Amino acid sequence: MSPIFRRRLLDAASAPYRAVGVVHHRWARGKLGGDAIFTALVDGAVFPDQARVLDLGCGRGLLAAWHLAAEALAARGEWPADTHRPPRDLHFTGVELMAREAEAGMRALLPHYPGRVALSGGDMREVALEGFDVVAILDVLHYVDHAAQDLLLDRIRAALPPGGLFLTRVGDANGGLRFRISQWVDRGISFIQGHRLSRMWCRPLAEWVRILEARGFKVETRPMNGHQPFANVMLIARVPQAAG
Ligand SMILES: C[S@@+](CC[C@H](N)C(=O)[O-])C[C@H]1O[C@@H](n2cnc3c(N)ncnc32)[C@H](O)[C@@H]1O
Repeated sequence: MSPIFRRRLLDAASAPYRAVGVVHHRWARGKLGGDAIFTALVDGAVFPDQARVLDLGCGRGLLAAWHLAAEALAARGEWPADTHRPPRDLHFTGVELMAREAEAGMRALLPHYPGRVALSGGDMREVALEGFDVVAILDVLHYVDHAAQDLLLDRIRAALPPGGLFLTRVGDANGGLRFRISQWVDRGISFIQGHRLSRMWCRPLAEWVRILEARGFKVETRPMNGHQPFANVMLIARVPQAAG
């Protein structure tokens, strides 16, 4: 995606947040504009058409905002011919521990994308996972302990259909200084957002891959830091087509 078109998509994806206040709008612009994962997901054609996406730890629903804005631009014929067409007819369900963030996301997105997005407050460890083609957990897994991570991965694997996708981003605990920088930034932002600071449960990348493969996922990893000095990795974990 060209930088000029990326800017156009950023404007479209962040615009709905203007209606819920300057803080939300600035947050959406900053995150969508500064985090390489959003462009990478569309450029890499990661989500299939018509996917029902469950976004755990969805914050204000930026994953939905980005994809639905891309889809709307493409539907209006405003998508460049040299850029991978974004997925069509996506539906997003989001669950977020900080209910007020999910509510702000709903107030922003629902008027623009009725019937396509449902964000609510809740704990990802307790929600029903059935009925989705994609489960996304971006920068969230390390907030719950290793036993809870293991259980959640078991449940996600059991709930996804053949061909289903589990998308996550984690920090590589073997990433040295870059990993420690990302942890400091994470703690700072969590504090500003009003989270109680507690331990984080991280793992080396090789261990993340191992525990996903042990559950039958086929795993692809991509460094996902953009210009930031982090040790973040996106993991695209697919349930094989033939699996039950
Ligand atoms: C670093 S933010 C990432 C937000 C979003 N996934 C994104 O990429 O923009 C982590 C989010 O996970 C949420 N979170 C942490 N523990 C959670 C849990 N147990 N259930 C649901 N959300 C949780 C936090 O409230 C926070 O909004």
